[in-house]
Amino acid sequence: MRKKITIIGAGNVGATAAHWAAAKNLGDVVLLDVAEGIPQGKALDLLQCGPVEGFNYRVTGSNDYKDTANSDVVIIAAGLARKPGMSRDDLLAINVSIVKACAQEAVKHSPDCVLIVVTNPIDAMVHTAFKVTGHPKQKVIGMAGVLDSARYRTFLADAIGVAPRDVNALVMGIHGDNMLPLVRLANVAGVPVTDLLSAEKIAQIVDRTQKGGIEIVNHLKTGSAFYTPGLAAVEMAEAVLTDSQRVLPCAAYLEGEFGISGYFLGVPVVIGAKGVERILEFELTSEEKAAMALSVTAVQKQMEATGI
Ligand code: 2OP
Repeated sequence: MRKKITIIGAGNVGATAAHWAAAKNLGDVVLLDVAEGIPQGKALDLLQCGPVEGFNYRVTGSNDYKDTANSDVVIIAAGLARKPGMSRDDLLAINVSIVKACAQEAVKHSPDCVLIVVTNPIDAMVHTAFKVTGHPKQKVIGMAGVLDSARYRTFLADAIGVAPRDVNALVMGIHGDNMLPLVRLANVAGVPVTDLLSAEKIAQIVDRTQKGGIEIVNHLKTGSAFYTPGLAAVEMAEAVLTDSQRVLPCAAYLEGEFGISGYFLGVPVVIGAKGVERILEFELTSEEKAAMALSVTAVQKQMEATGI
């Protein structure tokens, strides 16, 4: 059976996600945006990569949610991105109404879809999508851990001088300054990074990971990162579409896991056809628990500000 992926928001992140989804031959891709012509033009351009790249699925641009009907996965990437000097929280007021409308329309037309939310501030936006749709908690997931962990792995690989794919490292918590790049579990093909790098170097890498988004915003000046955010969302979508049971750090709704209840935060999640199949819980050190508590406080503040 052909799979269908809708991506809402044809800006940099959405269009890049469409690009990765098409290139990976995951299924038919619908790129939707309120701006007339933009999704149609980008989708047509992407479709014409098919003969060269060898993908077989349709890529369609639309302004009409009817075209998204019965999607298996819907990625919400609509909303404003940061500019220099802005925090992700500065986007909250405007993005909350955008995400609310997108999530409601998406679920109305694809009642069985897995929703992946990329819009910032992600942990509050995914919670907003969950609340306004009443969609099952397993089927609402926030992207961020894959992106933040990819940054962490890149910086570690660079410092150690090894292939990035051989670095295993996990970032938990909020997609914000209080995110928690776990040091004690980071390793290169099983070898602890703490045996390969000085504590000072690791501390620098942790700090750079926490500020990974703004580093790119400060370079671009006109917006934020999109290649890795787009790919991260598609990696999650792929895990759903192929029922792969991959373990990816994602923002999932917590009901007691890691001692946290009632919020979405980044944790290791087993992803399959149902969405969140399982959360892999493990014992945190007291230092890590304290760092996660900062994430909880930050997301609580964001959720209060949504007024949802
Ligand atoms: C980032 O960290 C877009 O928030 C995203 O780059």
